[in-house]
Amino acid sequence: MPELDNLAIGEVERNHTALLRLCDLLEGVADRLPANLDRGECLHLARSLTSMVARIHGHEEAVLFPALMRWRALLPEMGETIDRLRIEHQVDACYAEDVEDMLRSYGESRPSVAPEAAGFMLRGFFEGMRRHVAFERTLLAPLLAPTPPGQVN
Ligand SMILES: [Fe+2]
Repeated sequence: MPELDNLAIGEVERNHTALLRLCDLLEGVADRLPANLDRGECLHLARSLTSMVARIHGHEEAVLFPALMRWRALLPEMGETIDRLRIEHQVDACYAEDVEDMLRSYGESRPSVAPEAAGFMLRGFFEGMRRHVAFERTLLAPLLAPTPPGQVN
C-alpha cells in the first residue's frame, strides 16, 4: 500500500499553508471592496489562483488520498470521506475559475459583478477552502504517528 513519506507530508503541509495564505489575501481583497481595491493585487491573484489550486489538488489526489485509503480497513468511512474531498476539489476548482475571472475584471477596471457580489464570491470561496484545509489537516495528523491506531507492531 502507498506510504506517505516525510517529504510528501511536508509538501502537503506547505501546500495547506499556501492555501491558507491565499485565503488571507482573498479576505483582504474582500475587506477592501470596493473603494480601496489594489488592482495590481487583483491581477496578481487572478494570474495564479486556478493553477495554484489545481497543482495542490493534483498533489493531494496523487499522494495524500492513496495514503489515507490505507486506513479504510480500520476506518470504513474513509472511502466516503475521500470521495467527499474529491468532490470538494472539483467544486473549488470551478469556484476558483469564477473568482479568477472576477478578480481579473476588477484588476482591469471592468468589473464583471457588483462589489457586493464580488465580496460574496470571495467569502464563499475562502471560507469553504479554510474548512476543507482544516478537515484535511485533521485527517493528516494520524499519518504522522508511527503506526495506524489499533495496529500492533
Ligand atoms: Fe484538498
